[in-house]
Amino acid sequence: MTQDTPSVPASPERRAIRSFVKRTGRTTAGQTKALDELGPRFLLPYQPDTLDFAAAFPDTTRATGQNGIKPAPLVLEIGFGMGEATAHIAALLPDTHFLCCEVHDPGVGALLKRIGEQDLRNIRICAHDAVEVIDHMLPEQCLDGVHIFFPDPWHKARHNKRRLIQGPLVAKLAARLKVGGYIHCATDWQEYAEQMLEVLGAEPLLKNTASQAHPELQGYAPKPHYRPLTKFENRGLKLGHGVWDLVFERV
Ligand SMILES: C[S@@+](CC[C@H](N)C(=O)[O-])C[C@H]1O[C@@H](n2cnc3c(N)ncnc32)[C@H](O)[C@@H]1O
Repeated sequence: MTQDTPSVPASPERRAIRSFVKRTGRTTAGQTKALDELGPRFLLPYQPDTLDFAAAFPDTTRATGQNGIKPAPLVLEIGFGMGEATAHIAALLPDTHFLCCEVHDPGVGALLKRIGEQDLRNIRICAHDAVEVIDHMLPEQCLDGVHIFFPDPWHKARHNKRRLIQGPLVAKLAARLKVGGYIHCATDWQEYAEQMLEVLGAEPLLKNTASQAHPELQGYAPKPHYRPLTKFENRGLKLGHGVWDLVFERV
């Protein structure tokens, strides 16, 4: 996925530093059709109010616990790109709800198209900055998991400040996870992986699941079974690039 050079904001002191630039990309006819036909059902509008979870996911199955019906687990995904991994995981875990944020319009259309093709019911998409969604729509301890796969590495030193995985965002995510919930990040950019390890490791509400189970991986986790190898990742692996998964648990 290409990364454009961010334009200079008109009023830098009043604008938060964002982890994305809105890329112009062609939306295909299939994606447009999916946006028109499936958007009304699967898109959640951004609103600066706490999300009504039952209204957002009315028609999916609910897991049955020992004490009867209980709400399905909720996973937040930030930056799903074209939605390849998202659709795969949602099909694998039909009893889990996925709240998925992406700002790239063709990607939103692409995931809606997959939802239609695979008849997925457990995904809702918020086509908005995930940071604002977290700040305004998600209360404390509402999430069972967070997925952040291959976030933009912003590899030039002067752009590093745009990286998503930084202390303040990790603290917000940790506060919104239920105890026992997890945050799973993956990257193919070694220096960002090292930053993730440091930042996640410094958050007092999180514990690294890999430290004891896999000391030989030096803090990184084996790829969890549910995360598929995407085309993009496979191409990198064939070229000899590394991939690092990090899985931390809310304590
Ligand atoms: C490098 S792509 C990776 C996409 C996908 N996860 C994958 O593994 O192929 C990162 C994506 O994150 C999205 N993104 C970055 N910051 C975001 C934010 N604050 N809210 C929502 N999406 C964001 C970008 O638009 C981009 O599509």
